[in-house]
Amino acid sequence: MQTVPEALAGHRSIRKYRPDPIPQAVINEVLHEAITGTSSSGNLNSYSVVLTREPGRKRRLYELHGEQEFVLQAPLVVTFCADWHRTRTWLRRRGARDNFGNLLGYHVGAFDAVLLSQSVSLGFEARGYGICYMGTTLNAMHEIAQFLSLPESCVPVTSIVVGVPDEAPGKRDRLPLRAFVHDETYRVPDEAELDDLYREREVRGWERYMADPRLRAKAEEGGITSLAQFYTSPYKYDPDRHAADSARIAAFLAEHGFLPEGTR
Ligand SMILES: Cc1cc2nc3c(=O)[nH]c(=O)nc-3n(C[C@H](O)[C@H](O)[C@H](O)COP(=O)(O)O)c2cc1C
Repeated sequence: MQTVPEALAGHRSIRKYRPDPIPQAVINEVLHEAITGTSSSGNLNSYSVVLTREPGRKRRLYELHGEQEFVLQAPLVVTFCADWHRTRTWLRRRGARDNFGNLLGYHVGAFDAVLLSQSVSLGFEARGYGICYMGTTLNAMHEIAQFLSLPESCVPVTSIVVGVPDEAPGKRDRLPLRAFVHDETYRVPDEAELDDLYREREVRGWERYMADPRLRAKAEEGGITSLAQFYTSPYKYDPDRHAADSARIAAFLAEHGFLPEGTR
């Protein structure tokens, strides 16, 4: 078992998996450790996780997650949900006032769920398993909720795939520490400093994209000449698609009571 610093140093998102199943005892141990070892707002434990292992069901999740191949390969998908259904039912049964069906409730539940997801990820990684997050959970919130039979006021916020890695990718770079850390007050970098912060990232990221013939062809076709342009092009984080997805997410959260009148 790796220590936390070792697991963090060894972290790479894994996108190719061997089919070996993960023993139930390991899953239980990781989840128990993560649940009992992660802070929880008000100790309200406003999250749930749904495990998907059955290949037919995983195939449907693969479709909902934008057909990312590793969903089919990895033996386990864990969907982390902001879940007020259990707590609110309990409150009602005890004659307590209802709460958490509001924007603050959504944030509290989502933060708890995401904190848990990272503890679970570290637990698996410390045992030599690979993980990859799936941001596509947000794009397909509604459909995933239906597919997993999530009840009222329980919504999926993120997911990971887990399995035995079948690749050993290099460590991905981050911006330098000075980009993130501010001493006492926030200091906005001037243009030269900003260019300096992104210099290495732009070169490495662009080289990585251009080494992939599919991405290179897309860049040429779209007249894209930099990493920044690629990021918000139709091939990656397309602003029009994001605007449409945001509207869908807002409608879905409203359906679940997380955006009551007055907060919209
Ligand atoms: C919330 C979240 C969502 C992500 N969604 C995806 C995804 O849908 N597909 C994917 O291949 N990687 C996804 N990733 C992985 C990131 O691309 C990855 O963490 C990033 O490129 C840095 O690489 P590293 O994790 O190997 O350090 C996601 C990561 C996070 C934190």
